[in-house]
Amino acid sequence: MNQRHAMGGATNHSKCAVLSAADSESIRLAGLIIKRGGLVAFPTETVYGLGCDAMNADAAAKIFEAKQRPQFDPLIVHIADPKQLNGVIESLPVLGQRLMDVFWPGPLTLVLPKQPAIPDLVTAGLSTVAVRMPNHPVAQAFIREAGTPIAGPSANPFGYVSPTTAQHVADGLESKIDLILDGGPCPVGLESTIVSLAGPQPELLRPGSITIEQLNAVIGLIHRSSPVVNEKPIAPGQLSRHYATETQLTILASVGARPILNDDERAGLLIHSQARATDDRFAAVEVLSPTGDPRDAARHLFAALRRLDSLGLDRIYAEPCKEEGLGLAIMDRLRRCAAR
Ligand code: TXA
Ligand code: MG
Repeated sequence: MNQRHAMGGATNHSKCAVLSAADSESIRLAGLIIKRGGLVAFPTETVYGLGCDAMNADAAAKIFEAKQRPQFDPLIVHIADPKQLNGVIESLPVLGQRLMDVFWPGPLTLVLPKQPAIPDLVTAGLSTVAVRMPNHPVAQAFIREAGTPIAGPSANPFGYVSPTTAQHVADGLESKIDLILDGGPCPVGLESTIVSLAGPQPELLRPGSITIEQLNAVIGLIHRSSPVVNEKPIAPGQLSRHYATETQLTILASVGARPILNDDERAGLLIHSQARATDDRFAAVEVLSPTGDPRDAARHLFAALRRLDSLGLDRIYAEPCKEEGLGLAIMDRLRRCAAR
């Protein structure tokens, strides 16, 4: 292990350490790096995050730099214990408590009034902060060891597909961060659902792995923020083009539809369940779930997109899915990937 990296001093053009999170020594080192203002990529149940001390503005600045992330896009603050909320949020409405009771630890992010101690850079100058308590054991152990809430976006260059393995993180950020904690593939594979409780009524800002149906069962009908079509989002992070492959992606008209290909077109196909014999005309086919299970589809989506994107294809065609349950978040990601 290279000590310069281990001490939070990564420089460009060099590789960072990738350590197995199963080793308690790795967690200890990760905590040390955070205390010294460095950056650690860590697994969560949704996707890998790129973490820093949420109370340290200089460390947060390194995250924006590493990801090339615009400063109007705030970070999610991760905690390992609800007691840590005191240092992060100003107040907790009854609905917030109810949602926490049901969904935490887990893939639900709540937007709430922030404590002044959270640096403005972390929240992009907003009076609110996004906070979640992941249920991944490595994320929890890492946050505890760091002894501070961890601010962290998904660990990918801004705008690209989120990482669901340590290798995905390395592919995009290896030279820019101090350590990657390898905890294996993320079990859920889609980012957390984001609900704002800062306005007059609860609002769904990002569909994710907690479904709208699950939310409705706890708090009644939730309001959905209108999809954003421009590049200056009112709610940050709602850019139309995001989660995007380099290769142009086109969503097919319906389930089971196939495109007419040009003679020399090298195309990839992303489908949800069964491939057909005639699909061998595609240069590559990714089947998200042979049994059509949406949880498998969610878990495999980003890795499949990355594999197709690595082949230098002319185009990726993606089959749509029903916008219910996890399908809502899957279609949200595919649409943003397709937006130009
Ligand atoms: O599953 C997840 O949420 C992963 C893991 C690592 O926790 N994180 C993640 O972070 O997806 P990121 O930065 O890629 O997406 C966070 C989103 C952004 O769209 C950001 O704009 C939004 O959360 N956000 C953060 N703070 C906010 C706030 N105060 N108000 C509204 N949106 C906020
Ligand atoms: Mg992201």
